[in-house]
Amino acid sequence: MFKFSELLELINTHIASLTFSRKPQGLYAPVSYVLSLGGKRIRPVLMLMAYNLYKEDVKSILNQTTGIEVYHNYTLLHDDLMDQADRRRGKATVHKVWNENTAILSGDAMLVLAYQFMAADCPSSSLKKVTDLFSLTALEICEGQQYDMEFETRNDVTEAEYIEMIRLKTSVLLAASLKIGAWLGGASEEDAARLYDFGMNLGVAFQLKDDWLDVYGNPEVFGKNIGGDILCNKKTYLLIQALKHANEEQSRQLQQWLDATEYEPTEKIAAVKSLYDEIGVNRMCLQKIEEYTALAAKSLEEVDVPASAKVELKDLMNQLMKREV
Ligand code: IPE
Ligand code: IPE
Ligand code: MG
Ligand code: MG
Ligand code: MG
Repeated sequence: MFKFSELLELINTHIASLTFSRKPQGLYAPVSYVLSLGGKRIRPVLMLMAYNLYKEDVKSILNQTTGIEVYHNYTLLHDDLMDQADRRRGKATVHKVWNENTAILSGDAMLVLAYQFMAADCPSSSLKKVTDLFSLTALEICEGQQYDMEFETRNDVTEAEYIEMIRLKTSVLLAASLKIGAWLGGASEEDAARLYDFGMNLGVAFQLKDDWLDVYGNPEVFGKNIGGDILCNKKTYLLIQALKHANEEQSRQLQQWLDATEYEPTEKIAAVKSLYDEIGVNRMCLQKIEEYTALAAKSLEEVDVPASAKVELKDLMNQLMKREV
């Protein structure tokens, strides 16, 4: 069994060794740039951990782990454009260093590269199901991202709609990473499905925490601008609960900020945050994170391998919920 730190090192070393030497350089430089900024690498780590439940030769699936990480980074290029985000992983986003068209086109190239990595050296007996799941997952992520955008202009988004949106935009990729790792490791279909469920629940907790950090994170370590979701009127769990539990006066103030077209960004962030604090949504969100973490732990328990083999996955789950980035 490999430890988290060993798997992370393996992935980081492998990604650092990649060269994108085709031309024009203007298309590939942003690819190298975003990949060099690191990030938590949780999707490839999850894939390797799932694989490692069944097999030891983790290096044999480095192409597939690279595929998942390149794919994830592609979604970030487009997501940062859609969310008008200037900072990621403590550095300027691609559309800021270069321009918007570059973020679109280098992102497109990364999607294609991700497919190439995913298929490279994939055993022919698994290739079809791996690429089928990867394609379905990629479509679901587009669907989730579309809901995310559509919700910006709606004020009646329900908690159920929100959970479904984050399952689509975030959870399915964690789940697919685990399932592909399990399949390649030779897991039973039952175990692959249980690991997928684990990823779905973990993903919901993960995105809830991401939304929480966007408001309550430490700007020194978060690596993204705090309050970005507030400025976009993102229907996060925090905002949905605030709209639901506000009294008349709080509701009026919240609505005023949602409708405002001209404002000082720092002022809107501070005002909405203080409404969140008054209404008490911080605690509600943390509670929801715990709820989904518990569901994830339960799905993991059901995976039919010795408990000792699942320690790394369980630790990772707990670390993610405590994370500051
Ligand atoms: C960011 O993903 C997008 C979300 C789904 C919240 P991560 O939080 O995994 O970003 P990195 O890769 O660690 O930077
Ligand atoms: C991102 O959600 C989901 C995808 C990238 C598909 P967010 O928009 O919350 O992610 P961050 O906060 O920008 O990383
Ligand atoms: Mg974003
Ligand atoms: Mg987004
Ligand atoms: Mg976010």
